[in-house]
Amino acid sequence: MAHSIRQTILKMLSERNTYLSGQEISEKLGVTRTSIWKHIQKLRDKGYQIESVTNLGYRLTNTPNRLIPEEIHRNLKTTLLGKEIVFFETIDSTNTQAKLKALEYPAGTIFIANTQTGGRGRLGRQWSSEPGRGIWCTVLLKPTLRPTVASQFPLLTAVAIAQTLCKYGVEARIKWPNDILVHGRKICGILTEMGAELDRMNYLVIGFGLNVKQQMLDFPTELHSIATSVEMEVGEQVDRVQLICDILLELEQKYFQFLTEGFLPILRLWKEYNCTLGKMTRVSRFNQPPLYGEAIDLTPNGALVLKIATGQLITVFSGEIENNTQ
Ligand code: BTN
Repeated sequence: MAHSIRQTILKMLSERNTYLSGQEISEKLGVTRTSIWKHIQKLRDKGYQIESVTNLGYRLTNTPNRLIPEEIHRNLKTTLLGKEIVFFETIDSTNTQAKLKALEYPAGTIFIANTQTGGRGRLGRQWSSEPGRGIWCTVLLKPTLRPTVASQFPLLTAVAIAQTLCKYGVEARIKWPNDILVHGRKICGILTEMGAELDRMNYLVIGFGLNVKQQMLDFPTELHSIATSVEMEVGEQVDRVQLICDILLELEQKYFQFLTEGFLPILRLWKEYNCTLGKMTRVSRFNQPPLYGEAIDLTPNGALVLKIATGQLITVFSGEIENNTQ
């Protein structure tokens, strides 16, 4: 409640270029002027600069350049994703938290962290999540679908993020299934996990880690030759709040399109943005020998079709491409 009052005050202040009287806010929200003053104080504590002048009222003069719920809400244009935001200054992993709280929170909730101490990547890897540098975010979805389609969601998410990055001037390409690369260097990783019964999905958590503000030396040494960030690519400062809002909007549109039209239009876009098909590719697989061959297509479900030396076509449902550059 207090949170939504604060959000409304912020919205009113942002929409008004000049002073907004305490009286007007108090009438609109039906709360006392003392309570308004307390909310203004709370906003100031969060880094908002709000001037107050006797007989004129309050005026917003500066907003904090931080990925906090207030700022995301102020810029967000979605109808589902991010309507509820769970924010952590420091947390083990937003995916872990989203799974723990999946039943408690509604579909569309996002979990974000300023930093993760145990950020998780695919195949049990760690994910480096420095404070204030990237976007470490997990989206909770609860589609009434069969668990078999879950593997299409990371591809859908990759399309939404790659498309958004391209609008920012980043030449983002998708490496099967869902890594986002720029000239062969990884800029974003996606980790999708599911809670399900045999025939029914209960929830999906889609976590993405997007490098935004890092410069080369901010990455651990072992990542120097293989990682990049949005700012390294565009050579200027990028606003993480606007970027996450743009990603969530694109992701929501793709999700709704998927629910109404199915996976095919998304798959078409995936193919447009991919850097895997047509290349000689080595794929490592869990508990199975690696495969080497030409990546020739994706099945309608998003599995990779590989043509090996004998000419035989092999469908790979999950695995990791080892040698893919753009
Ligand atoms: C990968 O490329 O291996 C996937 C990396 C996914 C990282 C993100 S950061 C937000 C979310 N929380 C996690 O612990 N992992 C994902």
